[in-house]
Amino acid sequence: MDKAIVVDKLVKNFVVTEKEAGFVGALSSIFHPVKKTVEALKNITFTIQKGELVGFIGPNGAGKTTTMKVLSGLIHPDSGFVSVMGHDPWKKSGKYLKNISLIMGQKNQLWWDLPVIDSLEFNKAVYQIKDSDYEKNLSSLVEILKIGNLLKTPVRKLSLGQRMKVELVAALIHNPQVLFLDEPTVGLDLVAQQALRDFIFEYNRKNESTVLLTSHNMADLADLSRRVIVINEGNIVYDGLLEKLTKKYAPNKIIKVLFEKEVSLEDLQKIGNIDKYNYPEAVISVPRSTISYVASELLQNFDVIDIDIEEPPIEDVIRQVFETKDF
Ligand SMILES: Nc1ncnc2c1ncn2[C@@H]1O[C@H](COP(=O)(O)OP(=O)(O)OP(=O)(O)O)[C@@H](O)[C@H]1O
Ligand SMILES: [Mg+2]
Repeated sequence: MDKAIVVDKLVKNFVVTEKEAGFVGALSSIFHPVKKTVEALKNITFTIQKGELVGFIGPNGAGKTTTMKVLSGLIHPDSGFVSVMGHDPWKKSGKYLKNISLIMGQKNQLWWDLPVIDSLEFNKAVYQIKDSDYEKNLSSLVEILKIGNLLKTPVRKLSLGQRMKVELVAALIHNPQVLFLDEPTVGLDLVAQQALRDFIFEYNRKNESTVLLTSHNMADLADLSRRVIVINEGNIVYDGLLEKLTKKYAPNKIIKVLFEKEVSLEDLQKIGNIDKYNYPEAVISVPRSTISYVASELLQNFDVIDIDIEEPPIEDVIRQVFETKDF
């Protein structure tokens, strides 16, 4: 298989001026600035094959966004080697930019006051997309994401979920082969998250494009990626199958139940490990292998209004990885 992304011994430091508290402190920072170095990436090495969809996870400040910015050519590393589809991202050659797309869930990359279609037309010009390719890509993206009715709406009038879909159309209109997705589902409701996941999955499969995806949402990864790379404090601490990671460090899933009538804690404890019970809601940890059995027990023996099965938070899984320290 061909390599799409090669990252070797990547290092990136940021030099920041420390601000001191208060007015005198602020003045002293101006005249005697104290510089501090933040080691954002200490030593990052990984390789991703063409067509792979890889999850990139780690706690806040671990270095995920910094890595994505280096990979998409927005910032220059201090040292190390990076190659994406055979290109050095920093050279930002037109050919390279036509091959990639960086999508940041927290950043709006569209023209706020203009109708969606104008931003798309703008990208068409920037990427010099042929009319026929543009029409073809647009109609297929609009159809899969079901946003045909939004094209004439100004971006500022869209809901967060609608905007994220439109961001995706804008970012994919040039049919990039490599996709950097930085927390694409952040802030979206569950239905919108699922729609986006389905779309990313389809896009990856159909176009055989390479996707690197960061998320704090375990469900994104459980649905999408077989392989995950875990980063912490600028170092890679795990690179392998997600399944292996979750089996070992997240053996339980979480069931959230809403009861119609109050039930006794004793009865509930027979079902599983109760994390929280505050009528009408209970949160129960259940081993993955018994999840369907437990769910049906709950439905048969109690008056249940609603039941939800969730993945444990990614932060918990990562914390487990570090506490055990034998990955
Ligand atoms: N432009 C910058 N100037 C100074 N420090 C920076 C800059 N960008 C990032 N950093 C620092 O580099 C480290 C890594 O940041 P980065 O944004 O890559 O983390 P992250 O893994 O994306 O975190 P999060 O999950 O919160 O998005 C952090 O300590 C951050 O404060
Ligand atoms: Mg980030």
